[in-house]
Amino acid sequence: MSNDLKAKVGKAALEYVRDGMKLGIGTGSTAEAFVRELGAEVSNGLNIIGVPTSIRTAELCKSLNIPLTTLDETPHLDLTIDGADEIDPDLNLIKGGGGALLREKIVAAASDEMLVIADESKLVATLGAFDLPIEVNRFGLAATMSAIEKAAAHCGVSGALTVRQGSQQEPYETDGGHLIVDASFGRIADPNALAVALVAVPGVVEHGLFTGLASSAIVAGSDGIRIVTAK
Ligand code: A5P
Repeated sequence: MSNDLKAKVGKAALEYVRDGMKLGIGTGSTAEAFVRELGAEVSNGLNIIGVPTSIRTAELCKSLNIPLTTLDETPHLDLTIDGADEIDPDLNLIKGGGGALLREKIVAAASDEMLVIADESKLVATLGAFDLPIEVNRFGLAATMSAIEKAAAHCGVSGALTVRQGSQQEPYETDGGHLIVDASFGRIADPNALAVALVAVPGVVEHGLFTGLASSAIVAGSDGIRIVTAK
């Protein structure tokens, strides 16, 4: 999506933000466009407080003087606004392309509502063309990957599992100090069943299937911006 479209989606998301709100603030290039719009409104007097979903987002918020809090100080949020890697017609999502899925999911789950911002290329009939990010503990990595394969097979999915690499030829490390395994499962017919099976694997910290969390999405396309709600 062009930066121009991202800025439009970011601006459209501002319409959901009310004075006094406690916000979850997402991660990724689309969320970043929203944060920049939010920063401009804050400098114009909008009174909000936010919980960032990554160190990267926290740094951007600080540079824009957006007031921040933590879930320890503010455990209940009104609204989270975040991007996604895939969105299905029930507003189930794949997230974690940017590696922030754990904090993103904790923050979304602590919010009354989750609003997704994306371009129409993220809309899919069935999740799974985008590799599913799975955050895992470093300890016992090979055993955890083997258990993930078995759990996935029970749900009728299989595919290559790849430990995500960082820029320095070493495994990518999340903000929580964990690793990411990207799973090329292809079509995920039952995201709810796979979500339950994966989180039951010892060593899996969290996975990028967000089911039952998003209430609506602002989607940008060649025809403009539209709102998608769960079918
Ligand atoms: C971050 O971990 C992700 O969940 C992002 O929200 C997702 O990858 C979307 O990113 P873009 O807005 O950059 O496509």
